[in-house]
Amino acid sequence: MMKASRFLPLVIFLPLLSCSDKNQAPQLGEAPVKEVVAAMTPEEKVKLIIGMGMNYDGIPDGILPPADPEDAKVPEKVPGAAGRTHAIPRLGIPSIVLSDGPAGVRISPKRKGNDSTFYATAFPTATLLASSWDTTLVRKVGEAFGSEVRDYGIDILLAPGMNIHRNPLGGRNFEYYSEDPVIAGNMAAYFVNGIQSNNVGTSIKHFAANNQEFNRMQLNTHVSERALREIYLKGFEIAVTKSHPWTVMSSYNLINGTYASESRDLLTTVLRDEWGFKGFVMTDWFGGKNVVAQINAGNDMIMPGTTAQTEDLMAAVKNGKVSPAQLDENVERILNIILKSPSFNKYAYSDKPDLKKDAGVSRMAAAEGMVLLKNNADALPLTTGKKVALFGNTSYNLIAGGTGSGDVNKQYVISLHQGLANAGYAPEASLQAAYQKYIADEKAKQPKAAIAFFAPKPIAEMPVTGALLQNEAANTDIAIVTIGRNAGEGGDRQEADDFDLTFAERQNLKQIAAAYHAKSKKVVVVLNIGGVTEIASWRDNADAILLAWQPGLEGGNAIADILSGKVNPSGKLATTFPVKYSDVPSAKTFPGKLLNPDDKTPANPLMGKPAEVTYDEGIYVGYRYYNTFNIKPAYEFGYGLSYTTFAYSNLVLSDSKFNGKSLEAKVTVTNSGKVAGKEVAQLYISAPVKDLNKPAIELKGFAKTILLRPGESATLTFTINAADLASYDPNQAAWVADAGAYTVKIGASSLNIKQTAGFELAQAIKAAKLKHVLTPLTLIKELKK
Ligand code: BGC
Repeated sequence: MMKASRFLPLVIFLPLLSCSDKNQAPQLGEAPVKEVVAAMTPEEKVKLIIGMGMNYDGIPDGILPPADPEDAKVPEKVPGAAGRTHAIPRLGIPSIVLSDGPAGVRISPKRKGNDSTFYATAFPTATLLASSWDTTLVRKVGEAFGSEVRDYGIDILLAPGMNIHRNPLGGRNFEYYSEDPVIAGNMAAYFVNGIQSNNVGTSIKHFAANNQEFNRMQLNTHVSERALREIYLKGFEIAVTKSHPWTVMSSYNLINGTYASESRDLLTTVLRDEWGFKGFVMTDWFGGKNVVAQINAGNDMIMPGTTAQTEDLMAAVKNGKVSPAQLDENVERILNIILKSPSFNKYAYSDKPDLKKDAGVSRMAAAEGMVLLKNNADALPLTTGKKVALFGNTSYNLIAGGTGSGDVNKQYVISLHQGLANAGYAPEASLQAAYQKYIADEKAKQPKAAIAFFAPKPIAEMPVTGALLQNEAANTDIAIVTIGRNAGEGGDRQEADDFDLTFAERQNLKQIAAAYHAKSKKVVVVLNIGGVTEIASWRDNADAILLAWQPGLEGGNAIADILSGKVNPSGKLATTFPVKYSDVPSAKTFPGKLLNPDDKTPANPLMGKPAEVTYDEGIYVGYRYYNTFNIKPAYEFGYGLSYTTFAYSNLVLSDSKFNGKSLEAKVTVTNSGKVAGKEVAQLYISAPVKDLNKPAIELKGFAKTILLRPGESATLTFTINAADLASYDPNQAAWVADAGAYTVKIGASSLNIKQTAGFELAQAIKAAKLKHVLTPLTLIKELKK
């Protein structure tokens, strides 16, 4: 019966279909993808591969290479989106829309001839999200964020950014998660799963080793195979295998002499053959030089697409430099993703995301990722009814997120001033008036930026001295001082006046501290920053320091949630705060150098000049360096305070011998303080040292407790897999776990280990031999212990 009813329609309809559709081309979604590919002309295949150009807000005409003028006439489905692909109606292939970026949908908030607005939620930046160490939370943010991608008719979000915080001056660090690939990879995986649960896609970026902005489009990164595998590729591997992103974005830079987008080693051998990636790869915008090399490397889509690239690819298809089989492979991969896209499935998008709901998610997530760095004598939480003096420009002008393509067109930003007022702490009004006037005057003096895309020059801090300060110290109970930093695409940060405080900031802090401390009143510093700054030299001025990062559009409310104690801080650093910039292992090589300092500056300032950088710190990035070489940071990786305290006990391993596959570690965490709170426990491993150098410790797992009431305990369970014991041995081209004694260290931070236990690995474990790929052209003299 079942069988008959399943086959009957086929028998009836097949002949009908074949009669009526005899002359019709196969349609995507009806015919198998291979058949659609076979029906495509070479011109159509090239059209699908090369994007439709871009209309980008904030970049004046004449800077970017031209796209096809015919394409420019086709109305944009989502104005302000970063890119789109060509439709091929004959075969039922729709155009799909790609939009930035990591902290919120980046589209134009206004459209010509339309009174509606199209704002998006600015979520907290990636660095803040990583500081939550909470993958469930990050997935929730992804779900909310993805609903906006879907509701605005976008198919693929160009996020998450998951490069490594190799150096604190990296201009886009706010878009990236951490100095550690296990954090970066897991955060990205949960974020991607959250976004993609809305049936829209992601593009994890920038693949790979794109950790700075200096001449980013022509920067050759010299890096060893081991550092690549262990630090710069690992996070991508975790994200690809745990979340199957629809697409990957290849990066601008060269790796050991080859553009990432032209590297078959990277895009085919590693990404597809080793990790099993099934989606498609797109270039970063205008990235790479040679479209033929890109296509042959397995870089399936060229974004945003120029007429020159269309011509070059067409010529290569004709003269055989790109084989028909290669072209078909690229096209097939793109079509397989288009099939899943909302545009293909004619999703009736509303253009009305639930911004109110998502603002709530943004606020909650922001508070979860803020890190309490210092809290002497319980300066925080604020007791109710306190009269607050609010100093610092960013108290009134909160920086919600960084600049460039990682910026979001949001409807509002809650300042700290508003946030505190909403929470019932009315900040002192005359100080507010002074700051607001000062900020307005200074803004009016600023020259208008030629390219709005870049970070504007910050307004210098208003000097706080004399009567103004004495008056505040006399009439208020506590001083809150914010320090702000902004950066973004197109430029790295500087050590002076950026990583380090400016003269005005130092002076203000010193004098505010003197005035308030003289009256036995406290000073709280709030850091509204996108990346790491120097703290050690001025922290004595502050009784408490809250690292609020760049917390998204509800930032002021979220900071007030922490300051008031409504939310107990539970964030911890996923990136180290060194004592001084020269302590950073890459300080001497960052950002690299120009190959030929006499090269002329190109018309497109984003293009940069040929340059290079050598990662001679090798695998010793972040805490792997500080812990191994005993360099004490200001605040170490994994560090963060709470309004309560936690005790660790009962670390138990499932075995004292590693069985070759996995081992379980369990630990009990108890809230030993007076208020409810959450604790992030970190599992590090110290491996035996044989032939290869090893970092003193490496993070292999982490877990956050639920909200524990005072006295309440939670048991956290971690699984240690064979791969977690291995290092990449370039001589054997394999991941190898040496035999010997391993120590499991469970800590509240990388320097605050609470419980240890050991196990033995009787015999070395060697994973399958891999191909030697991405090998350096020159000998890199790497740091060794
Ligand atoms: C950035 C990418 C971004 C793309 C599209 C590039 O300049 O590097 O991160 O997704 O532009 O806006």
